[in-house]
Amino acid sequence: MQRNSTGYTIGFAAVVCLVASLFVSGLAVALKDLQDANAAADKQKKVLIVAGLLDEKAKPSNEEVEALFVENITPRIVDMSTGEYADDAVDLASYDQRDAAKDPAMSFAVAENKAKVKAMPNHAVIYEIKDDAGTLEQVILPIHGPGLWSTLYGFIALEPDGNTVKGITFYEHAETPGLGGEVDNVRWKSGWEGKKVFDGSGNVALRVVKGKAAADSPHDVDGLSGATLTANGVTYTVDFWMGEHAFGPFITKNLRG
Ligand SMILES: Cc1cc2nc3c(=O)[nH]c(=O)nc-3n(C[C@H](O)[C@H](O)[C@H](O)COP(=O)(O)O)c2cc1C
Repeated sequence: MQRNSTGYTIGFAAVVCLVASLFVSGLAVALKDLQDANAAADKQKKVLIVAGLLDEKAKPSNEEVEALFVENITPRIVDMSTGEYADDAVDLASYDQRDAAKDPAMSFAVAENKAKVKAMPNHAVIYEIKDDAGTLEQVILPIHGPGLWSTLYGFIALEPDGNTVKGITFYEHAETPGLGGEVDNVRWKSGWEGKKVFDGSGNVALRVVKGKAAADSPHDVDGLSGATLTANGVTYTVDFWMGEHAFGPFITKNLRG
């Protein structure tokens, strides 16, 4: 075939495309394990940060994160239809709560809510921190809900009273940096510490207000300037996950009961 023929040009282009696509897909397969390991370490890191056991700016290796996690944190399983512990219900090593929520056999539908959560996994993974004597110090609960552009995935850490917030963090979202992305701002997050989730009647009262929260308010957190839509999403998220259709029964039975 002549090198300057149309057939040669098309054939050459096809071979280059094939080689390039084989290279890219081969690389994606080869790096999948590494990506999964990094994602798992990142999630553990966020649990450690929300628990106050790791500085936000620290850059530990995956091995250091894993060691700190194993030493301090105990994952537990909660049956979300009863709020009871159900540690043997699933295999923690392979269980993925987000996948479970998408599987009708492993989840149940929830009533319409502002957090836009449609299905609840039958089992949720929570994290406990105990002191050396075995006394519970913190419980860390997974939460997720809507921002303006994305779903925010995070954790809220509660003190053993099941009411006082120890911290909040979001480990995955796609809000605008400098606007909704300020949910990652260390100073804003520090405003959550010590706030109370429930009012005197047991209703969820914790919320992000527009503007500055009153200094003496036990439930109000400062707003996110120019990002009220993301901030409202955080309020809806907290309201849903602390409420009766999510972790409310677990908190009542195991922490506040
Ligand atoms: C490019 C662009 C990105 C934006 N990103 C966000 C965002 O991530 N979160 C958010 O709440 N608002 C975002 N906004 C602003 C919203 O449209 C809206 O104006 C704002 O949430 C209202 O908040 P405010 O009442 O505090 O000003 C963005 C606006 C623009 C133009």
